[in-house]
Amino acid sequence: MSITYLKDVDVRNKRLLVRVDYNVPMDQGTIKEDTRIRASLPTLKLALERGASLVLCSHMGRPKGQVVPELSLRPIAQRLSELLGMDVAMASDCVGPEVEAMTKALEPGQVLLLENLRFHAGETKNDPDFSAQLAKLGDVFVSDAFGTAHRAHASNVGVTKLIPVCCAGLLMQKEWEYLGQALADPKRPFVAVSGGAKVSGKLELLNNLLDKVDRMIIGGAMANTFIKAQGFSVGSSLVEDDLLDTARAVLTKAQERGTALYLPVDFVYADGLKSEKADGVCPYQNIPADKMVLDIGPATQALFAEVLSGAGTVVWNGPMGAFENPAFASGSMHMATAVAESSVSIVGGGDTDAMLHASGMADKVSFISTGGGAFLEFMEGKDLPAFKALKECAA
Ligand code: 3PG
Repeated sequence: MSITYLKDVDVRNKRLLVRVDYNVPMDQGTIKEDTRIRASLPTLKLALERGASLVLCSHMGRPKGQVVPELSLRPIAQRLSELLGMDVAMASDCVGPEVEAMTKALEPGQVLLLENLRFHAGETKNDPDFSAQLAKLGDVFVSDAFGTAHRAHASNVGVTKLIPVCCAGLLMQKEWEYLGQALADPKRPFVAVSGGAKVSGKLELLNNLLDKVDRMIIGGAMANTFIKAQGFSVGSSLVEDDLLDTARAVLTKAQERGTALYLPVDFVYADGLKSEKADGVCPYQNIPADKMVLDIGPATQALFAEVLSGAGTVVWNGPMGAFENPAFASGSMHMATAVAESSVSIVGGGDTDAMLHASGMADKVSFISTGGGAFLEFMEGKDLPAFKALKECAA
């Protein structure tokens, strides 16, 4: 089933309700990282150039139906106005007669940002009444929040049943085409690199990718569970004891399928996440009982670089260590360099994105997805609700 794209829709003199994902990291009202805001600009510019007026809606955080002033989108309106070089009006709510009147007063070429959708409980419940209120705010619906595509909420699924013309914006189109193509017909060898803290959140991803890739690398704290599952002590490191059998099942599946699976062979260790420097490097069989492993070691860096050399496609999610602390960032930085050297490199997930920007390698990789959970679920092969809704509209 196909999807209608914004570029093919006549939007002149129309009010466009655009679902964007401005759920960006904030620190006391200041935007820490604006990648997702920038990623929405091509869609907004195209629609403005073509004579539409824009009603933008997004969530931020998880306020659970309450008005939480720290999660207001007001600072985003300010930033967006700088990036677009024009006024962006801010509504004090996202639904209601006053907001509806504001949207109707927009002239072509004007932009209005609605307040946080999740200040209303109806958003995450995909409530029909809330969807109907939102649907009054646009003649055309543009779905462009890839980061939220794995949620079935009122603003990305409910409204599509009520606004007659629905389409995917340029960001959704780009993610859909790029990630879909990468999974459907990858250049080989196809290598998956998985890191980050938890096996639990990534189990389906690992299992699904094992069916597709030629090699798999597992690093970050999730590797500890695999090391322990093979009978070795991991000291005081993060580990998911309830998933040891699961980790063994992943190792067995890799073996049965003939997929080479690589784990760290050495680690950098210290007392804890806040340690100012590393205490040393140990092989995986000899992790000191009272220490925590916080990064992959130099032998592992060399091994993983070797595994990646000559790769056709690399998909990477999750850092190799506690990179937020510079003492434990080396493994992730080296991984960034090695991944960027492969002919097609696809990176996703909030932490990995932040790490890549910190390493200065962001513009060296082929594609950085704006999705965290959405990227993972797409890679797991799931039909994400936002895309399903768009396909149903087009059918
Ligand atoms: C994200 O950052 O992954 C998206 O904005 C979705 O946010 P959520 O996990 O709170 O639904």
